[in-house]
Amino acid sequence: MKKSARASEKLLRLAVVGCGAIGSEAVRALVKKPLSRAYRLAGLCDLKLERARSLARLFHYPVPIHSDWRNVLDDADLVLESASGEVAGPLAEAVLARGGDVLVLSVGGLAGREGVLRRLAEKGGHLYIPSGAIGGLDAAQALALNGLKKVTLITRKPPLGFRGSPGAARLGLDLGRLKKEVRLFRGPAKEAVRLFPQNVNVASLLEWGVAAAAPIHVEIYATPGLRTNTHEIILEGRAGRIRIQVNNFPSQANPKTSRLASLSVIAMLRKISANVRIGT
Ligand SMILES: NC(=O)c1ccc[n+]([C@@H]2O[C@H](COP(=O)([O-])OP(=O)(O)OC[C@H]3O[C@@H](n4cnc5c(N)ncnc54)[C@H](O)[C@@H]3O)[C@@H](O)[C@H]2O)c1
Repeated sequence: MKKSARASEKLLRLAVVGCGAIGSEAVRALVKKPLSRAYRLAGLCDLKLERARSLARLFHYPVPIHSDWRNVLDDADLVLESASGEVAGPLAEAVLARGGDVLVLSVGGLAGREGVLRRLAEKGGHLYIPSGAIGGLDAAQALALNGLKKVTLITRKPPLGFRGSPGAARLGLDLGRLKKEVRLFRGPAKEAVRLFPQNVNVASLLEWGVAAAAPIHVEIYATPGLRTNTHEIILEGRAGRIRIQVNNFPSQANPKTSRLASLSVIAMLRKISANVRIGT
């Protein structure tokens, strides 16, 4: 067999559902090494077909495009979901039920399906959830093995980053006119995810990572004048205390999304295909 033929057989067939800020940055990374050596783009899906079409033009081979995510499943070994919370749950279930692998960004959309998804993944597929807009999940999970006493997540964002959230709407605030910091929420992670579905994927991430070890307490603030989306995570464990602070610049394509979230997908795609893996 020719060396090039052997190499292409090994490529993982990746489909991307959602070609917005995160999906399009991940797709652009697939054109370049090292990801171009590990993946073949097997399909692109977006309700706005033109977004998928213009990304498909970056590749020297034909990339099928779709507006319905169900149509990408047959051709992919791994499906990247970067669309919305409504898509994430049904898509992850459908992929895992077929024994495939799925990488989910809209992690808040998986709420209530943890048990089903873990059971489906045991049949042979993989559910990958990248660290998204935060870091330190590796250390948090390691600390949790020895028992956690308390986990606190404090999120601060510029007020307009909360526009459209049911949690902000119920307070009746004019987010564009806030003069000083306002606490929008204080309570358990599950409730935060329900009230701020587009903003606290981070709370969901912690739920997946460490909630089995300790309940997660969340505080959310709208902070005028803030330029970054900031997350502070404090874990009190028996083996030590971890304090993680992330100050994220917003993505230019979508200010509600942190640039780090796109980069975390690219880092995870690298890790999935790498022979050398650093961190857990
Ligand atoms: N895990 C994290 O830390 C983290 C961080 C940021 C964003 N997110 C989540 O990732 C997702 C993508 O974020 P983004 O900034 O790229 O959003 P975006 O709005 O820029 O892009 C989403 C794209 O998905 C498409 N889309 C929506 N519904 C679809 C459907 N049913 N079928 C096909 N395409 C569909 C939209 O047309 C759009 O092009 C969002 O759900 C967001 O909440 C997660």
